Amino acid sequence: MEISANTQALAYLAAAILFILGLKGLTHPASARRGNFFGMIGMVIAILATLLGSEVQSYGFIIAGIAAGAVIGSILAARVQMTAMPQLVAALHSFVGLAAVLVALGTYLNKSAAGLLEPVLMGELSAGIVIGAITFSGSVIAFGKLQGLISGAPMIFKGQHLLNAFIAVVTVALAVWFGMTEQLWALGAMTVLAFVLGFTLIIPIGGADMPVIISMLNSYSGWAAAATGFTLGNNLLIIVGALVGFSGAILSYIMCRAMNRSILHVVFGGFGGESEGEASAQAVAAQKGVKSASVEDAIYWMEDANKVIIVPGYGMAVAQAQHALKELMELLEERGVEVKFAIHPVAGRMPGHMNVLLAEADIPYDHVFEMDEINPEFATADVALVVGANDVTNPAAKSDPSSPIYGMPILEVGKARHVYVIKRSMRPGYSGVENLLYYQDNCSLIFGDAKEVCEGLVTALKGGGH
Ligand code: TAP
Repeated sequence: MEISANTQALAYLAAAILFILGLKGLTHPASARRGNFFGMIGMVIAILATLLGSEVQSYGFIIAGIAAGAVIGSILAARVQMTAMPQLVAALHSFVGLAAVLVALGTYLNKSAAGLLEPVLMGELSAGIVIGAITFSGSVIAFGKLQGLISGAPMIFKGQHLLNAFIAVVTVALAVWFGMTEQLWALGAMTVLAFVLGFTLIIPIGGADMPVIISMLNSYSGWAAAATGFTLGNNLLIIVGALVGFSGAILSYIMCRAMNRSILHVVFGGFGGESEGEASAQAVAAQKGVKSASVEDAIYWMEDANKVIIVPGYGMAVAQAQHALKELMELLEERGVEVKFAIHPVAGRMPGHMNVLLAEADIPYDHVFEMDEINPEFATADVALVVGANDVTNPAAKSDPSSPIYGMPILEVGKARHVYVIKRSMRPGYSGVENLLYYQDNCSLIFGDAKEVCEGLVTALKGGGH
């Protein structure tokens, strides 16, 4: 069965509308499932309309490709841990980038053999190749850093900005030369240099900034797809590429704003590092003058409290402590304690990370508050329970201009009457910066795995506390 160009255009329009509705749905946890559903239906329509179009000449390779992709994708989706999602996304972006490069190269070879190269097409091919190649190698490096295959520490070298600027200028010059002369060597050299540029741009960036970089590469992959859409004359690919391009750019902006850093600072900064291992958590804490506490100490203040605010962070995700937290919330509420959850926009390792995990544990949305809403409430809370969050609670962001996180808005947990922080050691958070909160008089650390400690809190509460 082959559909007409008009039917295909209509199907593409329907798919584009569904993608936009999908993005709209993804802006809130309550509508995210519906948004995903719209996106999936849109993608099914888009794939069917493309396969039934007149351009398709044989189905063999396409079916083989879809089958192989479906098998690999299903295995990856079933296996991936929530905490490993950023690197999976990075790997997927690298495929988009590589696909854009390969489509552009294939189109060049076909059209040049048929003598059909013309200036606009040459521009599209150059854009697709350069953006695609940068996206590919940049995403591979981002994947390597997040997966721990390459050091997550910033690798800053002398003259790095000069080198990048030089490669960028030569790449653009080659693209212009290629556009004017249609010579294969210029195309090859431009492609290789763009791959190198993706590498040299991303390798200096530290692990803490990787989520922003991934969202930026997401944006690039969108523009690469849009360029491919122009090359192939496919309107839907242009629309989808632009949607991805803009949403990735907006997300990068939102993340940068939440960390009070400019995107230029992220790209050219070199921030964050790897922390060193430490012996006994309690010993280091005592040596530093930081108080450690037991589960019972925390329950003593929590069970008769009026208000408890729970602050989840990356450690909750690692430990998968959200279900224990839900139980803790229910037990406290049975005792008449008001329980709220406070979410920092960059808590965890990806946007919405905490919201997804709390939703997974069926913690009601009306208990979950964004930073600006909840910050004024810490002063009236009896206990702030920080579960594996660190950087997002660090007062150094407000008080220490020399701190690398200075200016980042934080959750003001230190204003609560008592603060209990659950973490395993005195190691710093992702930015590698020491947390000044731990030195406050009202703050104590409960050392241990977040899930185990939260389960301990539940058990202690069930046992009647003190
Ligand atoms: P972090 O500052 O990274 O702190 C996480 C804490 O969890 C660590 O101090 C760690 O201490 C503890 N932890 C790890 N595993 C644990 C476990 N099993 N049980 C208990 N505790 C555990 O996390 P955060 O406060 O959520 O901040 C997020 C960081 O990522 C920020 O620096 C932010 O700028 C950065 N970032 C995030 C995003 C997005 S979009 N979310 C984007 C860009 C950057 P121990 O090792 O001592 O246990």
